[in-house]
Amino acid sequence: MKKIGIMTTGGDCSGLNAAIMRLVAGGMKRGHQMFGIVDGTDGLTSTPPGIIPLTAGSLPAEDSRIAGSFLRNGNANTKNFETAAKTGKQKEFRGQIKKSLEKMGLDALVIIGGNGSLSLTHTHREIYGDVQLVCIPKTIDMDIPLTDRTLGFDTAMQQLAAYCDQLMLTARSHHRWFVVQAMGRDTGHLSLHAGVACGADAILIPEIKFKAESLAKHLKKSPRDYGIIIAAEGIRLRGHSGAAADMIARELKKRGFAVRAAFPEHIQRAGDTTAADRILASRFSEAALDAVDNNETYVMTSLLDGAVKTVPLAEMFAAGELTEDAKIPDMMVSNSFVPPDHPLLSAAVSQGAYVGEIK
Ligand code: F6P
Repeated sequence: MKKIGIMTTGGDCSGLNAAIMRLVAGGMKRGHQMFGIVDGTDGLTSTPPGIIPLTAGSLPAEDSRIAGSFLRNGNANTKNFETAAKTGKQKEFRGQIKKSLEKMGLDALVIIGGNGSLSLTHTHREIYGDVQLVCIPKTIDMDIPLTDRTLGFDTAMQQLAAYCDQLMLTARSHHRWFVVQAMGRDTGHLSLHAGVACGADAILIPEIKFKAESLAKHLKKSPRDYGIIIAAEGIRLRGHSGAAADMIARELKKRGFAVRAAFPEHIQRAGDTTAADRILASRFSEAALDAVDNNETYVMTSLLDGAVKTVPLAEMFAAGELTEDAKIPDMMVSNSFVPPDHPLLSAAVSQGAYVGEIK
């Protein structure tokens, strides 16, 4: 029997509750005691520490498909690794976490986190001492390397595609183009997937250079006078600043298009968890519990070529580092970015979308 803590950190996404529920059900079945850390690292630094016992009844199965986290993710205004570093309180913050963990007497901690949280976990790994650390990758950005899918991505893709589907009807009624700004931080995975799903006329992502002039030419050639352009939040355009969708809308307006910018924002992190994300939550949870039982530590669950296994956190961290592109000076690349040979790029072009200046 082990005492296992579960914590959700970083931005929320759909699928967190499904993972918590499956970890609790599976952990109890294996004879472990399950606990939840409330509010991410806030729960590890509060006095007394925010820890609650979890049982199969804590989170009913029918509620486990709803978005958000039953354990919550913490408040952006309170102290975390980044703010502690900025205010010079890192040592104190790390000390508090270490003390809390000792007080809680956990044997293992399952962190359900995104790229930032998992990288910070790796960087500060010594504070977890002997507590076994097993991570489950979750993020709508899908910017965690060494896994083909992250928890929450499928639901986010569904949410964004559904949002564009709805806008398309207004676009059609008003002979108008909508530039929809997608989340994704520095990557274009979410934009690319949702864009292909909803039949967007253009998909602009940070990984691929594009020209406003070429975009306009492409739209002018369209048999329709309406449609959707997806602009990933991470794109840049020379001579412009501000939100991605606003920059593109300005360029199109200048060229005579009837255009509006639209911002689905955090709706992309909401929505009932899709079946695919629930299944991923089940598979990752089982793998995380296997890792605890096998005494693995500093590992992350991962889906690679259809199989779920664990990979060392250190390998994930190293694989995600930015490096300079050998072919393009000043261009930084990472394994977490959309690669130039991503199959959905050619699929998008094949169905008539402009995706930037690709060969
Ligand atoms: O990492 C998830 C994410 O939703 C990004 O896509 C986005 O850039 C960011 O978090 C938004 O963060 P916040 O909720 O703090 O505005």
